[in-house]
Amino acid sequence: MTVRTVGVLGCGLMGSGIAQVSAVAGCAVIVRDLNEGLLAKGRGAIATSLAKFVEKGKLTPAARDAALEKMRFTTSLEELARCDLVIEAVTEDLELKNSLWVTLDRTCPPATLFASNTSSLPIIAQARVTERADRFLGLHFFNPVPLMPLVEVVRSVATSQDTLRTATAFVNGLGKEPIVAKDSAGFIVNLLLIPYLLDAVRAVEHGVASVPDIDAGMKLGCGHPMGPLTLLDLVGLDTSLKVGEVLYEEFREARYAPPPLLRRMVMAGWYGKKTGKGFYDYSVEPPAVTPL
Ligand code: 3HC
Repeated sequence: MTVRTVGVLGCGLMGSGIAQVSAVAGCAVIVRDLNEGLLAKGRGAIATSLAKFVEKGKLTPAARDAALEKMRFTTSLEELARCDLVIEAVTEDLELKNSLWVTLDRTCPPATLFASNTSSLPIIAQARVTERADRFLGLHFFNPVPLMPLVEVVRSVATSQDTLRTATAFVNGLGKEPIVAKDSAGFIVNLLLIPYLLDAVRAVEHGVASVPDIDAGMKLGCGHPMGPLTLLDLVGLDTSLKVGEVLYEEFREARYAPPPLLRRMVMAGWYGKKTGKGFYDYSVEPPAVTPL
């Protein structure tokens, strides 16, 4: 099967990016979110990102217009019925995801593949509520989706080889690099990345150095494109906390346990760039260091 029409559930940070790269690759895309306000926000993020590509000469204005025309935005789940592949990118809440899958399982034809962009929840815990566990997998994109070349293709114990083949071809068609991982907490990247990010928060807690110096250390000393605390702000402190909790729950190893400072910042509603404040305050330009 070739994926020609993609449904995307949720058009936040990840969903809007997934919709964008799918449309640029030539797929018809149906983006579904809860209300017109959320859809308008996602559409705005896509337009801004496409404009940057045009500005840099990486996309022609005609290709941008073609991509925009390929996308439809809706609040109706029923409109996803004609998709070859549905990718969910909603909040990391298993009950919410599963309620959507139960409805879509009735709405979509049996051939439609279902994929979750979850960064922390087991794929099989979602697949099991559908009648198509063999046609269910993880497709884990990275932030910012339009720029990051990797997608983790996650196979649960029930995912079929055919499903993996079709999904891998789809990822290649997006111009991205697929890597296959088992349905193990954190898959490949977050298993390695999250303890590193949590250690950076612990370094702040222990007063090892200032936030900018910890960032500069890894950026200039190890050649990382951004320091760990800037990266936490980009990924979302809420998301990182959630992934840390899932890893700790699964492996019970101290290095996965989210440090108290991260919890306090999430309690304060400081999720990073998306809320305007995290380890840095984005209400000013350039961003200022948040006093902690
Ligand atoms: N769309 C289009 N263009 C964008 C963009 C977007 N969404 N975001 C940034 N850009 C552009 C910028 O405008 C800029 O353009 P310019 O060169 O003309 O100024 C260019 O990309 C480079 O951006 P910046 O100058 O702001 O910053 P960098 O040079 O540092 O590059 C980056 C940005 C590619 C994000 C780089 O810093 C990077 O690779 N950072 C690490 C990101 C990372 O590790 N992501 C994975 C996180 S883990 C994850 O997502 C998994 C989850 O489950 C937790």
